[in-house]
Amino acid sequence: MKFSTSAMALVASAAASRAASVTFWTLDNVERTLYFTPNPESSAIEPVTVNNQQNSTVQFPDTWVGNWYAVQSGANNVPGMLGEVQFGGWNGLTYFDVSAIVDPNDHDNVKQMWPAVAQTPMSGCEVFPCNNVYWLPDDVQTKTTTETDLWTTLGSGSTGMAFA
Ligand SMILES: *[C@@H]1O[C@H](CO)[C@@H](O)[C@H](O)[C@H]1NC(C)=O
Repeated sequence: MKFSTSAMALVASAAASRAASVTFWTLDNVERTLYFTPNPESSAIEPVTVNNQQNSTVQFPDTWVGNWYAVQSGANNVPGMLGEVQFGGWNGLTYFDVSAIVDPNDHDNVKQMWPAVAQTPMSGCEVFPCNNVYWLPDDVQTKTTTETDLWTTLGSGSTGMAFA
């Protein structure tokens, strides 16, 4: 009995350590609130307010599917440039992209996404418009990674990173 309890605990902690995340890095001095829109089978995630005082890591269930957009303090809450993700997708991969499909003119909120360790592939751009985003439902811009931790930048500025 004791053995099976600790075996269960090991399984639980292994599952917890695999949980996915996105770290939000604000490049300018604007405060923004991130609003998350889960697909019907994914759980709700509370809005998170972020700024350049710190990089904010949001944890996701390991098969979460959905998107988020950023709203600047004082602005109306309307969806704009999206960060889209499918954690635990086909073959266990993470699918992600920056999508201009809702509002291609939202040029100063969600900017770039990449896997934490490899830092490639990268979706999005430092300056919009660009062709490294998802534009249309049949677009082929969705990126994949075996990693479950992503980064996303917000706002104007440069990461200084040379993405492959
Ligand atoms: C956020 O992370 C980036 C990349 O590691 C780093 O350059 C930047 O200084 C961090 N920002 C803060 C406020 O810690």
